Amino acid sequence: MPDSIDKRILKVEFGLEALRVKERDSDERKVTENVFDNATLKTLYHLSNSGYIEALGGPISTGKEANVFYAIGKGDRELAVKIYRISSSNFKAILGYIVGDHRFENVKRTKRDLIFAWARKEFQNLLRAQNVGVRVPEPIIVERNVLVMEFIGEDGIASPHLRDVKLVREDGEKIFEEMIEFMRRLYQDAGMVHGDLSEYNILIGPQNEPVIIDMGQGVLTSHYRSREFLERDIENVVGFFRRYGVKATKREILRRITDNNQ
Ligand SMILES: Nc1ncnc2c1ncn2[C@@H]1O[C@H](COP(=O)(O)OP(=O)(O)OP(=O)(O)O)[C@@H](O)[C@H]1O
Ligand SMILES: [Mg+2]
Repeated sequence: MPDSIDKRILKVEFGLEALRVKERDSDERKVTENVFDNATLKTLYHLSNSGYIEALGGPISTGKEANVFYAIGKGDRELAVKIYRISSSNFKAILGYIVGDHRFENVKRTKRDLIFAWARKEFQNLLRAQNVGVRVPEPIIVERNVLVMEFIGEDGIASPHLRDVKLVREDGEKIFEEMIEFMRRLYQDAGMVHGDLSEYNILIGPQNEPVIIDMGQGVLTSHYRSREFLERDIENVVGFFRRYGVKATKREILRRITDNNQ
């Protein structure tokens, strides 16, 4: 094995080792073990060997179905690596994210294959959103249950959730308008609905700009539940921005997003 590759793997391994030590001290050891089953480790090594991941850092978030890690990629680029958990995930929930999406009709209904499909689905949704000018983390590569994307933040510090930032009223109104435009573009230009939009899945970037994340639940407008999901997204967003004085009704916003004469 050439020296450089060896070093890269060591760096990745170092990240994993640091993580294990860190989590052993907390009560989350089990979570860590579940994330890095042998198959996931192999995928991480492969991404390292192919040059996508130079070094893997600590966890940014440990969620229900996936964990997100900080990493460094080609040219020292900061990355976020989302690892969908295979072993401890809920089969029914995962099936629900794939059923009704014609892009994944032919996927085998085993838990593993559904999770891989789900990761690919998030990758494709991010790409679709990016292509119509919606600010999302740039998707870089997806392999099995590992999704590599642009890191939203600076110098290893992830941008905060919309929920956790204090904005002056005008900035709140401005971000609300940007969000409605993003939702309109998603719906009309990309033909999709986020499906899990809320103040938890919107990050506020360094220039005070909203960045939409967590697109695994996104569905095409042809999906049998797309209208229900859109209405729920609107309810969450409109409801949240009331604190910044936004008075628009859900109906008005629904019309702005779905009416193609606007
Ligand atoms: N590209 C990114 N850059 C920076 N931070 C990110 C990025 N992607 C995700 N995060 C952080 O990781 C958290 C979890 O990511 P995400 O929402 O995609 O996963 P999730 O499994 O759905 O988590 P949850 O169940 O908590 O919503 C986010 O809330 C955000 O804080
Ligand atoms: Mg989320």
